[in-house]
Amino acid sequence: MKGVILAGGLATRLRPLTWVTNKHLLPIYNKPMIFFPLEAMARAGIKDVLVTSSSDHAEHFETLLKSGEDFGLQLYYAIQKNPKGGISDAISLARDFANNERILVILGDNIFQFDLRDAANRFEKREKGAMIFGMKMPTISSQYGVIEMDKTGKVLSIEEKPDHPKSNIVQTGIYMYDERVFSCIDQLAPSVRGELEVTDLNNTYVAEGTMMCEIIDWWVDAGTSFDELLRANNLVAEKVRKGELS
Ligand code: DAU
Repeated sequence: MKGVILAGGLATRLRPLTWVTNKHLLPIYNKPMIFFPLEAMARAGIKDVLVTSSSDHAEHFETLLKSGEDFGLQLYYAIQKNPKGGISDAISLARDFANNERILVILGDNIFQFDLRDAANRFEKREKGAMIFGMKMPTISSQYGVIEMDKTGKVLSIEEKPDHPKSNIVQTGIYMYDERVFSCIDQLAPSVRGELEVTDLNNTYVAEGTMMCEIIDWWVDAGTSFDELLRANNLVAEKVRKGELS
């Protein structure tokens, strides 16, 4: 499986921090945000990873991450022309890179420690389909996609930022797709906010009955607000102090 990390977007919710700096280069306690998805790729046993970003910050990522040797990865870079084209638009940049292999996609602002290796192995054994990762939250903020699933982990529906969530399971930014993902993206139309949405892509697999979900432990989407950015920093600081994270 190949890896794709998305580090584009405009990060308007974190301005003025993001007027000059790319969100994914902001600090999470002792390291830049993008180190978390990169380390997750390495833990999952992925070797080749494509990092997508917009043109104004691409060289910053190359300066920081080089070819990926510090992570035990081989990194490649791609530019998303429209920085707000949407998550599925950014994933589509990986078409040639994937070269008919399956992909693991991680959003560059997702902070977590969960080891994806076993899930990746399980996914590779499946004939077809996709897999998403959910996190149970006591109260659901309207910032997230919400997953409805049955006891076997089969996803029944995903709603993007619903007013009345059908469950307490939030859709994280960790997705595994089979080789057909790019032809699924070709069928998508922009949403009302003008983006090719990841939830629309994921619902293609839900409609086919091949979308599965696994639950992960702690996870923070550090890009949603100043409070979540601060929470991610505090959580990571606490775990580093306890020796649970390096
Ligand atoms: O993180 C989990 C959430 O991520 C999910 O619960 C939602 O279902 C999903 O739509 C997404 O919501 P966000 O509102 O958090 O997406 P955001 O626009 O913040 O983009 C997430 C990441 O993807 C961010 O790291 C930047 C990158 N991105 C985003 C867009 C729109 C790109 O690289 N290109 C883009 O065009």
